[in-house]
Amino acid sequence: MDNLILIILVIISPGVWSGDWRVTFEDECALKGTSVVIKCEYDYPVGHIVTAAGWSKALYVDGNWKLFPLSQISSPPNHFTYMGNRWSDCKLKINDVQHSDEGHYFFNFVTTLNRWRSKRSAHLSVKELTAVVKPSTVTEGDVVKLTCVSGCLTPVNIVWFRDGQRVPNPVFRAGREDAGRYYCAVQGQETATSASVALSVQYAPSKVKLSMSPSVVKGSSVTFACSSDADPPVTQSGYSLYKDGHFISSGQTHTISDIQPSHRGLYYCQAWNNISWRGIALINSTEVPLDVQYRPENISISMDPPHVVEGSSVNLSCSSAANPAADNYTWYWASVSSSSSLLQVGSGRVLSLPSVEASHSGLYLCQARNSLGQNNSTEVLLAIKEKDHGSLSLPVLAGFGVFVFVTLLLLLLFFRLKQRTSAKKKQTVYDLRLSGRGSSSSASEPSNSVYANIHAMPPSPPPVISAQDTPPHSQGKSHHQRDVPTSYEDEVTYSTVTIKARNPSLPHHTNNSRVAPDSRFKAGDNDDSVIYASLAESS
Ligand SMILES: *[C@@H]1O[C@H](CO)[C@@H](O)[C@H](O)[C@H]1NC(C)=O
Ligand SMILES: *[C@@H]1O[C@H](CO)[C@@H](O)[C@H](O)[C@H]1NC(C)=O
Ligand SMILES: *[C@@H]1O[C@H](CO)[C@@H](O)[C@H](O)[C@H]1NC(C)=O
Ligand SMILES: *[C@@H]1O[C@H](CO)[C@@H](O)[C@H](O)[C@H]1NC(C)=O
Ligand SMILES: *[C@@H]1O[C@H](CO)[C@@H](O)[C@H](O)[C@H]1NC(C)=O
Ligand SMILES: *[C@@H]1O[C@H](CO)[C@@H](O)[C@H](O)[C@H]1NC(C)=O
Ligand SMILES: *[C@@H]1O[C@H](CO)[C@@H](O)[C@H](O)[C@H]1NC(C)=O
Repeated sequence: MDNLILIILVIISPGVWSGDWRVTFEDECALKGTSVVIKCEYDYPVGHIVTAAGWSKALYVDGNWKLFPLSQISSPPNHFTYMGNRWSDCKLKINDVQHSDEGHYFFNFVTTLNRWRSKRSAHLSVKELTAVVKPSTVTEGDVVKLTCVSGCLTPVNIVWFRDGQRVPNPVFRAGREDAGRYYCAVQGQETATSASVALSVQYAPSKVKLSMSPSVVKGSSVTFACSSDADPPVTQSGYSLYKDGHFISSGQTHTISDIQPSHRGLYYCQAWNNISWRGIALINSTEVPLDVQYRPENISISMDPPHVVEGSSVNLSCSSAANPAADNYTWYWASVSSSSSLLQVGSGRVLSLPSVEASHSGLYLCQARNSLGQNNSTEVLLAIKEKDHGSLSLPVLAGFGVFVFVTLLLLLLFFRLKQRTSAKKKQTVYDLRLSGRGSSSSASEPSNSVYANIHAMPPSPPPVISAQDTPPHSQGKSHHQRDVPTSYEDEVTYSTVTIKARNPSLPHHTNNSRVAPDSRFKAGDNDDSVIYASLAESS
């Protein structure tokens, strides 16, 4: 009976010749996320007609291994796809392999006469790609090697990605732009990637930059902030601030709360993170100038020439420290005597007085202004000196004038007496002797009396001493210009000539320097000396 059926089956199924119950397949290794095909072939005795074929998987349930048809295993649609046929091919494709797909798979089929399940199973291992970046921390310029490891046979066609970008070469010299997360994949199966691995590329600070307000007003506050691009980032202590090449402070920021003109200069900062670049570990920012602005200070007036003589020219210059430089000057003047307010007398840095008059004397003040404000100099006194008298004071001048006058007077007296003596020698009429109480130098002492014995004979009486030399316009003193009685030779007459200096101090001493001292002293010539003379006539 069985043989008959077998013969029939052989007749109707001409393609099956092996005639044994058999399933052959290979173990597979798949990468998670890829698709895998478990290759499979089966055979059965001649005469059978396959009515159903399918796969099942061994699952460990309640302490026992049990076989479950794939249709009973919950999975996404089309996860398992039977790709075989009803006579010899029993391939199974698994899409988007997951770790849960790992396990033992059995093939079973049903024929018209029997059913069969493979005795052994096809084992599926699910692995992942592992990216290896060596070394994972480098300094710029070091060589990096990327390796992709999988639990299955390592595929040859590996591709690498960094943050989604293809990496052309798995061995390279690292630049800072190479830092990132790396992962690998099998070419053509880029859906299955390794987990990503970070590559960190350390580099010395770059783009070191000092920021601050470049122009500040004196007294305000300035903050210097240093920044850089560095890996590892520069720490607080890795930053330093320099001014004109001199260390100021360390730290990323530095604040000067009361900025002064002395803070003006070229600033730069320096960053350090223990990584060197071409042998340099301390990287400087570019230099940034700091300009401190302030309104005029330390304003002073200088006088050229320093001593001013009436009629000459003088320049008063105003100098100040200011930033920006003062560009607007105003001059004020006040007279010394009156307590009146200041008068504006000019502008410009130099106040020129081409021909100084007495009315120019007084207190001068200059006001310097720049865009930030104005400030005043201290007041400077302009004192004007009269011409030709240098630096001698008035009383000294007066005393000197009197002295000169008296000396001249005595010289004249002496000259007259000499003349008379020579006249006496001719006529044997006159005898004149001068006798002073002291030496002959007593002539210079105006208060000394002069005693003279005068022997005169008519009809030619001698002129009075120095009478003609007295200026004719000095009225009131003209009594000693009159002719006086003469004395005769044989009688001795005592006569007293007193030359007396009056107090030389000037009667009208005022501040008004418009009165020239010259004229005052000329007036004093007549006023200061009186000559008293009395001559007694005998017989
Ligand atoms: C700087 O680097 C050297 C070697 O590269 C290391 O020995 C040293 O400890 C580092 N110093 C700091 C402060 O990190
Ligand atoms: C940075 O500044 C330091 C100190 O002022 C100086 O010695 C060094 O030469 C500078 N470095 C560079 C690269 O200019
Ligand atoms: C004005 O100038 C004087 C003298 O130079 C100085 O002491 C004072 O501080 C200045 N005033 C201002 C507001 O700058
Ligand atoms: C003004 O003078 C003072 C005292 O001499 C000095 O300390 C200060 O620096 C001067 N100011 C300026 C802006 O030069
Ligand atoms: C004053 O300045 C003017 C021009 O600024 C110059 O010609 C003159 O010589 C100066 N006078 C003195 C006394 O310096
Ligand atoms: C100088 O300052 C005064 C007061 O602000 C102003 O009136 C004048 O125009 C200024 N002069 C110049 C030349 O800027
Ligand atoms: C400078 O003097 C002028 C004129 O007296 C006055 O108006 C001004 O306020 C003074 N400036 C200062 C800063 O004292």
